[in-house]
Amino acid sequence: MKQEKLEQLKSKCIASSREPIVFGEGNSNAFILLVGEAPGAKEIEAERPFVGQAGKILDEFLEVLELDREDIYITNVVKIRPYKVNEKTGRKSNRPPSKEEIEQYEKYLLEEINIIQPRVVVTLGNVPLKALLRDSKTTIGEKHGTAIQMENHYVFPLYHPASIIYRQELKKIYREDLVKLKEFLKGISS
Ligand code: URA
Repeated sequence: MKQEKLEQLKSKCIASSREPIVFGEGNSNAFILLVGEAPGAKEIEAERPFVGQAGKILDEFLEVLELDREDIYITNVVKIRPYKVNEKTGRKSNRPPSKEEIEQYEKYLLEEINIIQPRVVVTLGNVPLKALLRDSKTTIGEKHGTAIQMENHYVFPLYHPASIIYRQELKKIYREDLVKLKEFLKGISS
C-alpha cells in the first residue's frame, strides 16, 4: 500500500520534471527517514540517492547507528540535480538548489514523509532543515545534534556530508552528533 503510494508520487514527480529525477528509496516502514539536499551527477547516473562521495559518509552514518541501508528510507528535498554549465568547457558542476527548485520539490518530500510516517526525520544540512521547519532563519549551526519535536515525528538535524568534506573541523562535531542521535534513538525506542 505504502509502496504503491510512493510509486504514484514518483510518477507524478517524473511527469512534472524537465530533468531526470532521483526519487527516495528504501524501507517504506522505516523508523528513520534521512533527507539530503539534492542528487549529484553520480546519483543521477545510478538513479539512486547517496551513491557518490556523500554515500561514503552515509556508510559511516549507518555503521555508527548499527543500521543497514535497507532499514531506513533515503531521499532528498530536490529530486533533480541542480547544476551550472561552464561556458568554455561545457562541463556541468553542482550548485546549491535555487529557491524555486526547493519550492517545486518540497511538496514531494512532505508527501513521502506523510506516507512513510517515520518517528525521526534526520536532515542533512540547511536545505532540508529549513524546508521542514518552514523557517528560513533557522540554521544548522544552531540546531545540529538536537531533536526538534514536530506534530507527527522528530526532526534531528545533522551537518551535510558535503560540508564535512570541505570543512574538516566539522568532522568531529558530525561524529559527536551521530552519537547523540544514537542515544536519542535508544531513548525513544525503549
Ligand atoms: N547525494 C544525495 O543524494 N544527496 C545529497 O544531498 C548529497 C549527495
